[in-house]
Amino acid sequence: MKDVVVAENAGFCFGASRAVQMLDTAIKNGVPIYTYGPILNNDVLVKNYEKEGVKVINDASELKDLPKGIVVIRSHGVGRNVYDELVKSGNEIVDATCPFVKRIHKIVDERSAAGERIVVIGNPVHPEVKGIVGWSNTPADVLESAEEVRSFTADPEEVLCIVAQTTFNRNKFQEFLDIFEKKSYNTNVMNTICDATRIRQTEADELSRKSEAMIVIGDSKSSNSRKLYDICSANCDHTYFIQTVEDIRGMLPDVHGLIGITAGASTPRYIIEEVQSYVRQHDF
Ligand code: F3S
Repeated sequence: MKDVVVAENAGFCFGASRAVQMLDTAIKNGVPIYTYGPILNNDVLVKNYEKEGVKVINDASELKDLPKGIVVIRSHGVGRNVYDELVKSGNEIVDATCPFVKRIHKIVDERSAAGERIVVIGNPVHPEVKGIVGWSNTPADVLESAEEVRSFTADPEEVLCIVAQTTFNRNKFQEFLDIFEKKSYNTNVMNTICDATRIRQTEADELSRKSEAMIVIGDSKSSNSRKLYDICSANCDHTYFIQTVEDIRGMLPDVHGLIGITAGASTPRYIIEEVQSYVRQHDF
């Protein structure tokens, strides 16, 4: 038997597992189920839900031609307008927005109403960031790079409420705050970065340093999974990025040392277990 270690925090974070549980509970109602955007960035999981009749919608307007049922909002959350449109559609809403993201919505709503200018540090096209911006009562700025922060200008009188996308890199965020500080702007910084990502990355780093082969499970569309692959491949020459157990069959070299496994935030537990038991039992 191979020596295999699965990183403790591999796979679903708290918000993702909560969203999936809420979807599972909604399905039990026996009514049409819609998710606003794919529930997670994982094709395998989304296809399985499709087989159970779950339909992904990408715009609230799609609901008008569909039978009434339950709309599940995924962990990324949505902006206020989208939320209101979903409510107006006459469907029941199950809001599975991660509570950590919900907290950012509340900050942005309250601080913008209090007259502060909202600055979101993150990727402007990411659904979570779009949702956050959608709770600001005034136009919000989204800054993703150090260049953008450098060229950003504000009135010295105004207060900048700075929040971050939950998965933003902590060091980069600090670097951006240093730039803001040099500009002597009046800032109200809310560090809204979620630790789930950092902990998963630290574990992946440590595990890949001592592993002879490293398997990263995740969807190629998932940026946090790709990041795990980058971290692991820098430490371990035999690092594999796979989506399901099928992708690893016949691929692993004949290693005698430790085989490490980690997985991105949207990888279901059962896929991790399948890979683990295959690697453990297989004779290479
Ligand atoms: Fe929530 Fe953090 Fe996951 S914000 S969705 S627990 S990465």
